[in-house]
Amino acid sequence: MTQVQRRTLGKSDLHVSPLGLGCWQFSEGQGLVGRFWPALGPAVIDEIVNTSLQGGINWFDTAEIYGRGASERALSSTLSRMGVKPSEVVIATKWWPVLRRASSIQKTIDDRIRALSPYAIDLYQVHQPYSWSSIAQQMEAMAAVVESHQVRYVGVSNFSARQMELAYTALERRGITLVSNQVKYNLLHRKIESNDTLRLAKELGVSIIAYSPLEQGLLTGKFHGDPELLKRVSGPRKYSSGFSRRGLERTRPLIQSMQSIAEKHGATPAQVALNWLMHHHGDTVVAIPGASRSAQASQNAGALSFVMSSEDSALLSELSWQVLGRS
Ligand SMILES: NC(=O)c1ccc[n+]([C@@H]2O[C@H](COP(=O)([O-])OP(=O)(O)OC[C@H]3O[C@@H](n4cnc5c(N)ncnc54)[C@H](OP(=O)(O)O)[C@@H]3O)[C@@H](O)[C@H]2O)c1
Repeated sequence: MTQVQRRTLGKSDLHVSPLGLGCWQFSEGQGLVGRFWPALGPAVIDEIVNTSLQGGINWFDTAEIYGRGASERALSSTLSRMGVKPSEVVIATKWWPVLRRASSIQKTIDDRIRALSPYAIDLYQVHQPYSWSSIAQQMEAMAAVVESHQVRYVGVSNFSARQMELAYTALERRGITLVSNQVKYNLLHRKIESNDTLRLAKELGVSIIAYSPLEQGLLTGKFHGDPELLKRVSGPRKYSSGFSRRGLERTRPLIQSMQSIAEKHGATPAQVALNWLMHHHGDTVVAIPGASRSAQASQNAGALSFVMSSEDSALLSELSWQVLGRS
């Protein structure tokens, strides 16, 4: 097993590898959100999780909404089959707030605990800022499940700077720390740098958990290398402008630079994209790439074994702003 330097998530005692494994892909094609990815089946999930652990990854991000618990169940079954002890991994999951009130946090927590058993919920995140209850009410309910030892720490996801501050303050009143904000962040999606979320997270000591760190596969360069692969893409990615021949031409200059930096390290563009995310802002950002195959998980974990020079990191940053239309 590769030994990887751990980071502390927010102001908690959770020590994680700079990359975790995103487990949305384990939804087994179930539910509205889970249908985004094709069903993988237990054998492939076993391989992905095993490869990730061998590559030094010690934490996993899942959610209630990923296949109505299918992803959580698949993750705990796989880890159990492999004989992984609860103390060896960190588990993050999420409560789904849409069309619900904060009272559903208490009502559904036993289902989450059952789905992940015997693994504890180390980080419980509010998946979206959209609920029928206020952020303060949601944080009161989250504080209650921490105080009753049903979960260890609280995080949020897709929260703006203002919403994150509200959550932080509401929890602070109960003596509880907001550990993380999970948001979309990658070299082709950098809104958190301009909307104050990243700055405030640094100031508050809240970790940023970067989701879709490979822009759902685009930053691996595989579609730029073989645009015919676009025809095989299933699910909503088909309708994203980035996943079109025109979109690929727009982002090609960035991918080409990533390729040359990758060659210097004997690495791949995917590894460069992940490496940039986890080092460009010190320890604030950790990332959770998902994988549909074990070879992808192995490649992604390989990003943990080198550090780009600050010159290359700055060059990529500049090029990505140019591609995004801001120089
Ligand atoms: N909080 C939220 O609202 C939210 C939203 C989205 C995601 N997430 C979390 O973030 C995790 C990751 O985000 P994501 O799945 O949206 O995007 P991602 O990690 O950027 O992309 C994952 C997909 O890219 C392809 N891929 C990954 N590694 C590859 C490699 N080395 N080479 C070639 N292709 C590769 C695979 O798809 P193909 O093989 O099909 O191309 C894989 O399923 C999720 O699993 C989930 O845990 C959270």
